[in-house]
Amino acid sequence: MSSFFPDLTLPIGVFDSGVGGLTVLNALREKLPASNFLYFADTARVPYGRKPPGMVRDFAFQIMEFLLQQNASHIVVACNTACAAALPELIRHSPVPVCGVIEPSVAVAAAATRNGCVGVIGTKATIASQVYQSALQARGLTAWAQACPMLVHLVEEGLVDSDEAELLVRHYLKQHPEIDTLILGCTHYPFLRHVVDRVLGNAVTLVSCADAVSDLIAHSLNGSSTAAALPPGKTVHITTGDAAAYRHTSALIGADVQGEVISLDEHLLSAKTK
Ligand code: DGL
Repeated sequence: MSSFFPDLTLPIGVFDSGVGGLTVLNALREKLPASNFLYFADTARVPYGRKPPGMVRDFAFQIMEFLLQQNASHIVVACNTACAAALPELIRHSPVPVCGVIEPSVAVAAAATRNGCVGVIGTKATIASQVYQSALQARGLTAWAQACPMLVHLVEEGLVDSDEAELLVRHYLKQHPEIDTLILGCTHYPFLRHVVDRVLGNAVTLVSCADAVSDLIAHSLNGSSTAAALPPGKTVHITTGDAAAYRHTSALIGADVQGEVISLDEHLLSAKTK
């Protein structure tokens, strides 16, 4: 298969069901400006959060395989639902380091909480997996969890500043115990951070995995590619759905998509004709 980075350093592969993982990608690009990134958005199959874990696991393996064929040096699973369904297995089967988003978020929340009561919101599948609740409880914390199935649709439709967003966030958060920290346990949710902030007020600290994960990876790469002397890295986006729609949604939600956006079909077709 032809490479997107023929003469350059190997890319870091990042994937999600859609635009959510851009929160992680953009934090990574900020900390590792000279690195190359290959971002895979499975927009033809979004949302993952309502699908059975076995199906999401298969999707995650297919995408990891594609990123490995493209010589990814690291894989970042920028999707809580895929991490909940398959992260330990992905790590076991990958020849390169694989990083998920759940443990780093739990570690940040554990450091942030003062009263020991941490909330987490996520997709149906992530919350049903209990992966966050178990990790928080294993640290002696009280966990409150709430599935918010409609929020991914809002973000994928670009409706992050709508009345509907406010209404739904209020609905999902209307009953909660005295949490002082809330994990945004879906990478789409940071695009609704301003709404969650408005609904919960300043007393609750919001934790998004983007900073935690990007710190971890930048640290493990020794920040080597942050050297100012190096030229800026390249980012390529692959979408399983329509590439123009992906660009459009990203612009609506304020995600800064830089670099080429290519649909997987287009890429496979051009690889065949080479
Ligand atoms: N952004 C993803 C997550 O962190 C997936 C959301 C979805 O496709 O339902 O869980």
